Amino acid sequence: MTTSAQKMDHDPTLIELCAALGPEMAQDLLLTGPEIDAYCRDWHGDVQTGAIAVLRPRDREQVAACLRAAASLGLGVVPQGGRTGLALGAVPDAPARQLVLSLERMNRIRRIDADDFTAEVEAGAVLQSIKDQLADAGLFFPLALGAQGSCQLGGNLSTNAGGVNVLRYGMTRDLVLGLEVVLPDGQILDLLSRLRKDNRGIDLKQLFIGAEGTLGVITAATLKLSPLPEQNVTALVALDRLEDAITLFRHARRQCCDLLSAFEFMPPLAFTLAREAMPDLATAMDETAPAYVLMELSGSGLVDVATLMERFIELAFVEGLVRDGVVAQSQAQAKTLWSVREGMNDGQAKRGRHLRTDLSVPLSAMADFVAEAEAAVTAALPGAVCVSYGHVGDGNVHLNVLPAVGRDAEEQIGQAKKVIHDVLYRFGGSISAEHGIGRLKREDFEKELSQPKRAILENIKRAIDPGLVMNPNCQISFTDQPAS
Ligand code: FAD
Ligand code: LAC
Ligand code: ZN
Repeated sequence: MTTSAQKMDHDPTLIELCAALGPEMAQDLLLTGPEIDAYCRDWHGDVQTGAIAVLRPRDREQVAACLRAAASLGLGVVPQGGRTGLALGAVPDAPARQLVLSLERMNRIRRIDADDFTAEVEAGAVLQSIKDQLADAGLFFPLALGAQGSCQLGGNLSTNAGGVNVLRYGMTRDLVLGLEVVLPDGQILDLLSRLRKDNRGIDLKQLFIGAEGTLGVITAATLKLSPLPEQNVTALVALDRLEDAITLFRHARRQCCDLLSAFEFMPPLAFTLAREAMPDLATAMDETAPAYVLMELSGSGLVDVATLMERFIELAFVEGLVRDGVVAQSQAQAKTLWSVREGMNDGQAKRGRHLRTDLSVPLSAMADFVAEAEAAVTAALPGAVCVSYGHVGDGNVHLNVLPAVGRDAEEQIGQAKKVIHDVLYRFGGSISAEHGIGRLKREDFEKELSQPKRAILENIKRAIDPGLVMNPNCQISFTDQPAS
């Protein structure tokens, strides 16, 4: 086994990197050798690559020094948060030419301004920890996703993450007032601001949100907060068909006084998958209905959220939209119901390689799209299992496919993707509703880019990152990219 010190002694690129950083900084920031394996693996373990080294800066000045060093050596830099991204954006694809820059040491909440409902937070802070610290101050950061125990704010911003509360609070880009970015040449772009309204020209921070680390390193953000809801009520209901979930959603929008904060649909297989990850999971539900909806209402003050939920479910039952249902009577019960939804991802991961998609269509087309796409997959790939679930309010479905056993999984994944995309494009849908493009969807994304759109994206990239240092081969590819 090669130790870090031995590797640094022998690898010419590492020797140059240490010289460019200076010995003291190199000693403090650099990780090499087997320790970096975990930083070069995606969440599912589908991809394991390598890197020259991992850099772990402690502040924005050190981030700037890292980017200057990389640029001087013509090396690519792959910014990295919690590595929960599902589009292979945070994992290098040219180990001998790329560095990973992990934000994990920059995880402080710099300030909380409760009277302004804002907080300034460093990019390496883990989402759950941000939410917990803000909750202690009676404040709420609404971004909520299954990976929140590991993903970091910088990754959320760079993927413009969605999650289960989008229907009420918007995507990550709607939850940010200001941003701090280290540009590829090492300059610090300070766009941090607590202003809720500011129309001084083009809103530059939005360029970096959703850029997946291709334009610079996000080091901090000012978050737009809400009061912490005092009442959260969750219900799980069983339905006869997905179409009824869409109708139920429309009713909830009209009847629940804008207090609807989540509305997720799942297939019956959700229970089996969740139990494969959490064997003790028990719900008092008939688990054989064709479709399920997990919904949440939340609010504070004089409103009675529990009664509103009970009455809404009763009405839906009378109308024949819902055939069975349970309203959580405590936060512990609500957590159990949410475990079914969240456990689905872990359960699928345990099943091995499979197709994961992240699609959106107009809400009115969602049920037809899912029915047609699932039928097309089943016809093309007998024995493959479709697992469709997601965020009804956003028209966002994860139509995943578990390959049939005994036949080549990769081949089936490729075929299933093609079949689904053919249906998706007929419905005018998107191949990336919330996970981003990364390296996984680059080819599909490039295929659908119009000439003017590609030209604008290339010009923005070259204007901000002329050396093409940042996250090579992510989102779009350049033939003259030095670090590919
Ligand atoms: P990483 O995976 O580390 O990086 C993602 C991208 O951001 C990469 O391109 C990386 O280069 C870039 N990046 C990271 N940090 C920075 C930075 N500081 N500056 C510049 N670029 C940076 N996503 C959703 O949208 N909705 C969901 O509901 C959802 N649920 C999930 C559930 C599970 C179980 C899992 C595993 C993932 C889920 N995801 C979901 C995907 C993922 O959690 C999100 O994309 C998340 O925002 C990624 O954050 P991260 O810190 O892990 O980023
Ligand atoms: C979810 C992830 C996969 O919604 O986006 O569970
Ligand atoms: Zn999702």
